[in-house]
Amino acid sequence: MRRSLVVGNWKMNGNRGKSLGLLGDILAGLGEGAKADVGVCPPFVYLPEVGEALTGSSVLLGSQNVADQDEGAFTGEVSALMLKEFGCQLAIVGHSERRLIYGESSALVAARYAKALQHGLIPILCIGETLEERESERTFDVVGEQLDAVLHTAGVASLAKAVIAYEPVWAIGTGRTASTEQAQEVHSWIRARIAKLDANISESLQILYGGSVKPDNAAALFSMPDIDGGLIGGASLDANSFLKICHSA
Ligand code: 13P
Repeated sequence: MRRSLVVGNWKMNGNRGKSLGLLGDILAGLGEGAKADVGVCPPFVYLPEVGEALTGSSVLLGSQNVADQDEGAFTGEVSALMLKEFGCQLAIVGHSERRLIYGESSALVAARYAKALQHGLIPILCIGETLEERESERTFDVVGEQLDAVLHTAGVASLAKAVIAYEPVWAIGTGRTASTEQAQEVHSWIRARIAKLDANISESLQILYGGSVKPDNAAALFSMPDIDGGLIGGASLDANSFLKICHSA
């Protein structure tokens, strides 16, 4: 039985005070015995303070990206070793905003994924198609290529310590969620593709859905057999909404 996981991706939002306030409200509202595992991914600069505020809590700390190198002349990058120093446990890689706005290739994403794993961070590998790709019936080609890049670099066994997030680009920040059937179709396709390589890993792999998850659609999405939780953008910036989503999982 797979555990559910709900992760808030705060993206480049808030400020120092708001980040700590949001976290405080989330911790106060989560209480004990939440069924799902919960994580937050603040902007890099707030990781130390958010990490400190998480001391003694079961909420996981994650970064929004991770370097494909350990150290050196890589301006603007933050290494997995540095993230580990501040208590990070998760690292998002391959978010569509990185792929599409900043031009990160699947090969680079795979290298970031491998570095996260090498240093004991759990990568959350984001994959998903654009609207144009969906409308031209290339969804499975695109998602397959994004997945294969990681499988070629790190192997299927790496997925034993990783999480996948299916995030259709057309559903991110648009208020247009994939229907439960659309999401389930892709999630089960991903799981089946991995099952061909390793049935046990496929069965235990958490596959999250991301893209306009809100308190009113979370429960239906999370009830689908291959959806194991969510990667939440906008709604994770409001403690009440995020808590409702966490409690739906
Ligand atoms: P929204 O929930 O704002 O659509 O963002 C989803 C996302 O990109 C999470 O990584």
